[in-house]
Amino acid sequence: MELLDGKKTSNDIKEEIAQKVIELKNQGKKTPHLAAVIVGENGASLTYVNAKVKACEKVGFESTLIKLPTSVTEDELLAKITELNTNEDIDGFIVQLPLPDHIDEHKVTLAIDPMKDVDGFHPENLGRMMLNLPCFLPATPAGILELLDRYNIETSGKDCVVIGRSHIVGSPMSVLMARNTKIGNCTVTLTHSRTQNLKEITKRADIVIVALGKSEFLTADMVKEGVVVVDVGITRVKDESKKSGFKLLGDVKFDEVAAKSSYITPVPGGVGPMTIASLMLNTLQAIDMK
Ligand code: GUN
Repeated sequence: MELLDGKKTSNDIKEEIAQKVIELKNQGKKTPHLAAVIVGENGASLTYVNAKVKACEKVGFESTLIKLPTSVTEDELLAKITELNTNEDIDGFIVQLPLPDHIDEHKVTLAIDPMKDVDGFHPENLGRMMLNLPCFLPATPAGILELLDRYNIETSGKDCVVIGRSHIVGSPMSVLMARNTKIGNCTVTLTHSRTQNLKEITKRADIVIVALGKSEFLTADMVKEGVVVVDVGITRVKDESKKSGFKLLGDVKFDEVAAKSSYITPVPGGVGPMTIASLMLNTLQAIDMK
C-alpha cells in the first residue's frame, strides 16, 4: 500500500506556483489576486477558507477575505458578487458553501462571472467541462485528477466507482473520470443513496472515490485487493484528547481498507490540500484567460 500524499503533492504544486508568480512579477505583470467570501460562523468553513487564504500568502498571491454575517440578505450578497465581478484587480473569487438557508445557492453561483469562477461551479464552466473545452474545473475533482496523475495511476479502461452525487464533487468527478483525457477513460458508475447492492458494485471497482460525508462508510468487505481509494470525506468527531476538541474522520475506514489497497488517500492530508492547490492553479489560469 502506498499513500497518495496530498499534503506533499500540494506543497510541490505550491512551490511550482510560487516560481510562476516570481516570473510574472519579473515580467512586470500583475500579482494574481484571489478573493473568498464567507457567510456566517460555520467552524469547518472558516477553517477551510483560512487555509485557502494562507495558501495564497505562501505562493505569493494577493488575497482578500470577505466575512459577512449570517444575517446578510441575498441581495446584499449578490451586490458583493457584482462588486467582485467588476473589480479589475481581482482575478478570481469563491463563495464558500454551504450558505445559510435564506440564500439561494444557485442564484449566487449564477451571479459569479464565469471568467472569475475559480471554483468551477458556474453552469458555463460545468457545461464546458462536459464538452472538454477550456474551463475552470471544480477544485476538489480537479485536485483528485492531479493527485492520480502525479502518482501515475493508470485510469484508462479501469472500472471507477464514485460514491455520492453532489454538485461539488461526485457528479463532476464522474464526468471527469469518464472523459477521453489522460486521467479519464474509465468506465464510471455513479452511486448514491438509492443505489441497490452497493457492495457488489464497489467490489468490482479498480478505483473507488468516496464523497458522501458519512464517516468510515467504506469498509474492507466493500473493496477488492489492489483497489485505489480516494477519500473526499472530512467529518469532525468529538475527541477530548485533542487540543481542538475534535478529530477528523474520512468516509473510509482507513486501517482495514488501506490493508487491501494499492494506493489510498489519508484524511487529513489527502484530498483537502489538493483542493486548495487546484484553487491556486485555477487562479493562475484566470490570469492566462484574461
Ligand atoms: N464547500 C465545500 N467545498 C467547497 C469548495 O470547494 N468550494 C466552495 N466554495 N465551497 C465549498
